[in-house]
Amino acid sequence: MTETVEVPRALVQVAQRAHRVVVLTGAGMSAESGLATFRDPENGLWQRFSPQHLASAEGWEDDPELVWAWYLWRFERAHDVRPNAGHVAIAQWGERVDLSVVTQNVDNLHERAGTSGVVHLHGSISAFRCSACAQPSAETPDLPAAPVQRLAPPRCARCDGLIRPGVVWFGETLPEQAWADAVARVSEADLVLVVGTSGIVYPAAGLPAIARSEGAAVVEINPVPTDISDLADLTWRETAARALPTLVDAVHGGGSP
Ligand code: OAD
Repeated sequence: MTETVEVPRALVQVAQRAHRVVVLTGAGMSAESGLATFRDPENGLWQRFSPQHLASAEGWEDDPELVWAWYLWRFERAHDVRPNAGHVAIAQWGERVDLSVVTQNVDNLHERAGTSGVVHLHGSISAFRCSACAQPSAETPDLPAAPVQRLAPPRCARCDGLIRPGVVWFGETLPEQAWADAVARVSEADLVLVVGTSGIVYPAAGLPAIARSEGAAVVEINPVPTDISDLADLTWRETAARALPTLVDAVHGGGSP
């Protein structure tokens, strides 16, 4: 028997009234697609390493070959998985209301589900650039035939520097334009849905507070309490792929736009 998901009535009401919606997503958004969050224990090849260290400027300086192999593995994983029902529901909702997605995820699953104009606070796993001269690299890197734990990053055609993933690491600043867009969108929103983030990595984790101070209702969708729960107007202890389709259906009744 399938367990039914019930949307909190107060959420349906606030969502029905909202003209501008922002969905702020973190790693939990993609968990039901099969991508591990940053706080999940890693399996297999990477279990000895901390994702926090591998995803840091320091980690890259210590050992670029290790970090490059980890990102190629994540790049491959992100391409192998599919958007889940939550990503699809957000894309469908975006056809009916003024909706923006602001994400900390680098997996591009929102775009693959059909959402355009996604604000990427932490870059993209499919973008690469030179670590020395910042020249974007158009080439998709060669993937190893079998998973490996170390791999020499390719070299920049212009300056021979090491090619690195086009993501934001701990210890680096966010892309200025993406941050400005994120602040503008949450400031103009009536409703900010915070989905699948632990709310501990700043500055992204500060966006719900900015939204509240500018008058938006803040709603959290996450199976467990987080650092954002206390400031949220409403929390819904559900998973992204279960909650979002039910919510969009309750708000718009399942018909065409
Ligand atoms: P985290 O891994 O810190 O948190 C994931 C959150 O998703 C947790 O609060 C989980 O409870 C929740 N979660 C798990 N499964 C879920 C599901 N099915 N539906 C909804 N929620 C679920 O990920 P982020 O908050 O995104 O930054 O992490 C923020 C940043 O820290 C990342 O962008 C990355 C990371 O280190 C950089 O790499 C710079």
